[in-house]
Amino acid sequence: MTRENHKRPEANQAPEGGTEPLASTTETIIRDEFAQKYDYEHAQRYYRKHHRNPLRKLSDWREKGMARRALEAIGDPGTILDLPCGTGRFWPLLTTGRKHPVIAADSSSDMLRVAMANCPAEFKARINPLHTSAYQIALADNSVDTVFSIRLLHHIGEHSKRLQILREFQRVARGHVLVSLWVDGNFKAWRRQQRERRDLATGRRRTPNRFLVRRQEIEDEFRASGLAIVRYYDFLPLYSMWRLYLLKV
Ligand SMILES: C[S@@+](CC[C@H](N)C(=O)[O-])C[C@H]1O[C@@H](n2cnc3c(N)ncnc32)[C@H](O)[C@@H]1O
Repeated sequence: MTRENHKRPEANQAPEGGTEPLASTTETIIRDEFAQKYDYEHAQRYYRKHHRNPLRKLSDWREKGMARRALEAIGDPGTILDLPCGTGRFWPLLTTGRKHPVIAADSSSDMLRVAMANCPAEFKARINPLHTSAYQIALADNSVDTVFSIRLLHHIGEHSKRLQILREFQRVARGHVLVSLWVDGNFKAWRRQQRERRDLATGRRRTPNRFLVRRQEIEDEFRASGLAIVRYYDFLPLYSMWRLYLLKV
């Protein structure tokens, strides 16, 4: 993990219905090695990634469908912290038909920059960008209603780091937390585990930056962080590793 000094938005309290960009102060951003790759070029590629081919579009559509169902299950998700927001893939879903602002946070200022540059005006007015780390979120306790965290935890292979992030989510949220990650108990996970066993047997070394977590393990981590499971949504039950958990603080 690295600590970098950056300008970051001052965000001790989430704005009530405001659309003002949050002001800046200098803050240390804690980032893992894998997160260094999210520079400006990568951000531009990531922005295009989910529209690149029919399969990606289908997967994007499915992921948004899962997120929509989870948000509907909450009812009114109130002020949402989208962390990591990446290049703003979920902003139309998070803002349309809702009165509350969205705090869009990421540890990469380039991802935020590309997201804001490509964001249509009708959504932009509702987005408050925040340059911060999930390990140390620059928000006060209980300052948002819902934390929305898609595609972060599958990058975090260590139990202690996941706990730190989950505890931060629990600290800033007063209502719900949504997280997506890769879990076991499906065909893709079984295939991945087989490959890992083969690698071990043959001495082949890879440096993975995405990790599969056992359901039992992550569910214990939720409980240890003060988060109760409300329900979950599988991308493709029994086949895909992606699972979205809806948790209650
Ligand atoms: C795979 S992208 C997902 C973005 C978005 N949620 C989506 O699904 O399109 C992962 C994002 O996590 C961000 N990230 C990585 N580590 C982070 C951390 N510790 N705190 C906040 N953001 C982080 C990266 O900069 C990147 O934008």
